[in-house]
Amino acid sequence: MAPAPEAPGISHEGETTPHNNFSNVEATNKSRVTIIGSGNWGSVAAKLIASNTLKLSSFHDEVRMWVYEETLPDGEKLTDVINKTNENAKYLLGIKLGKNVVADPDLENAVKEANMVVFVTPHQFVEGICKRLTGKMKSDVKAISLIKGMEVKPEGPCMISRLISQQLGINCCVLMGANIANEIAMEKFSEATIGYRENRAIAEKWVQLFNTPYFIVTAVQDVEGVELCGTLKNVVAIAAGYVDGLGMGNNTKAAIMRLGLREMKAFSKLLFSSVEDSTFFESCGVADLITTCLGGRNRKVAEAFAKNRGKRSFDELEAEMLQGQKLQGVSTAREVYEVLNHRGWLELFPLFATVHEISIGRLPPSAIVNYNEPKAVLISSKL
Ligand SMILES: NC(=O)c1ccc[n+]([C@@H]2O[C@H](COP(=O)([O-])OP(=O)(O)OC[C@H]3O[C@@H](n4cnc5c(N)ncnc54)[C@H](O)[C@@H]3O)[C@@H](O)[C@H]2O)c1
Repeated sequence: MAPAPEAPGISHEGETTPHNNFSNVEATNKSRVTIIGSGNWGSVAAKLIASNTLKLSSFHDEVRMWVYEETLPDGEKLTDVINKTNENAKYLLGIKLGKNVVADPDLENAVKEANMVVFVTPHQFVEGICKRLTGKMKSDVKAISLIKGMEVKPEGPCMISRLISQQLGINCCVLMGANIANEIAMEKFSEATIGYRENRAIAEKWVQLFNTPYFIVTAVQDVEGVELCGTLKNVVAIAAGYVDGLGMGNNTKAAIMRLGLREMKAFSKLLFSSVEDSTFFESCGVADLITTCLGGRNRKVAEAFAKNRGKRSFDELEAEMLQGQKLQGVSTAREVYEVLNHRGWLELFPLFATVHEISIGRLPPSAIVNYNEPKAVLISSKL
C-alpha cells in the first residue's frame, strides 16, 4: 500500500520537503543576538534590540543578556528577578525589557549560539571578559561596542573596539550618541551614530537592530572618530560638573564645552589621522557632548566633588551617589593624561590635563577656568 500523503513541510524519517528545506535555510540565516552587560545602558540596549528582533524576520526573537550576577538586598539573584519580572530591578527599575529578553549569568553559555554580540559593560571589565571569551564564540560572529573609554597600554592607547577585535579576532563596530539611558528607556526621541571600518553591510545590519521610531541610528565610516567622541566627552562632562559645583553659570559652561570639543577633535586627530571632521557634528559628537554636560552621571558627581571643594574623593562620591553604576569620566581623564604625559602633549591639552589634576587633588576645582592655552590654540587651528 502506498504511504499516506504528508502534510506540506513535515519531514519523514530525516527527509525534508521543499517547504521544510526553506524553513531550515531561513532558520539558519537568522541572526542570534547576545548582549554582554546588563547595567543601565545595557538594559536599555536590550529593550531596543528585543523590540526589533520580534519584528524583523532576519533575527531570532530571543535576545540573550549576560548578567554579572549580583545578590539583591532581599537575597534574590538579579538574573532570577530579571527573568521573573522582565525588569532589571537594580539598574533600570520600572521598565519592561521585552518578554524575549533572557538573562543568563553564564558568560560562555550566553554567547555560544550568537552571531551578533553587543558589548556594553563599564570599560574596565572588557579585557577580562574578552580573555574568558577567547575561543568560545562562533568564528564569524560580529560585534559592536557601546562602551565609552579606552585602555592605556605601554605601547599606546587602545580603543575598546580595537581591543575586542584584536583579542577575539572579530569585526567590531561602535555605537555612540547623545544617549542618556533613562531617557531612551522612556522612549523619548534621540539619535545615535554607528561607526564602522569598511564593511557597510555589517553596519547596516546593526542599524536595523537598533533603529526604532524614537531612536534614530546613522552609520558613518569612522570607528575611531565615533569612539573617541563617546569616550572623551566624559572628560569634558567632569569639567562641566566642576563649573556647576562652583556655581559659575551657563556662559562658563558653554565656554568649557567649546574648549572641550576643540581638545576632543585635536586629540582624536593626533591619535588617528583618519578621523573625519564631520564625525564631530554627528550625534556621537556635539550632541553627546551637550547632553552629557547638561545631565548625566559624570557631570553630577563632579558637581558634588566641586561643591565639597575636593574634600571627598570621587570613589566615595561614586559609591554614595551611583548605587553600583560606574563613573567613566574620571578614569578616562587619567588615561588621557597618561597618553598626554607619555607623548609630551600636556601643554597642548590644558583642559584635559586640568580635569585630571583636579580629580586627584593636585589642583583645586577653581583651576578649571584658570589656565592659559597658547599652544592649544595653535594646535587646534592646524587640526
Ligand atoms: N548609562 C548611560 O546612560 C550610558 C549611555 C551611553 C553609554 N554608556 C556606556 O555603557 C557602558 C555600560 O554602562 P551601563 O550604564 O550599562 O552600566 P552601569 O554603570 O549602569 O552598571 C555597571 C555594570 O557593571 C557590572 N559589573 C560590576 N562589576 C563587574 C565585573 N567585575 N565584571 C563585569 N561587569 C561588572 C554591573 O553588574 C552592571 O551591569 C559604559 O561604558 C558607559 O559609559 C552608558
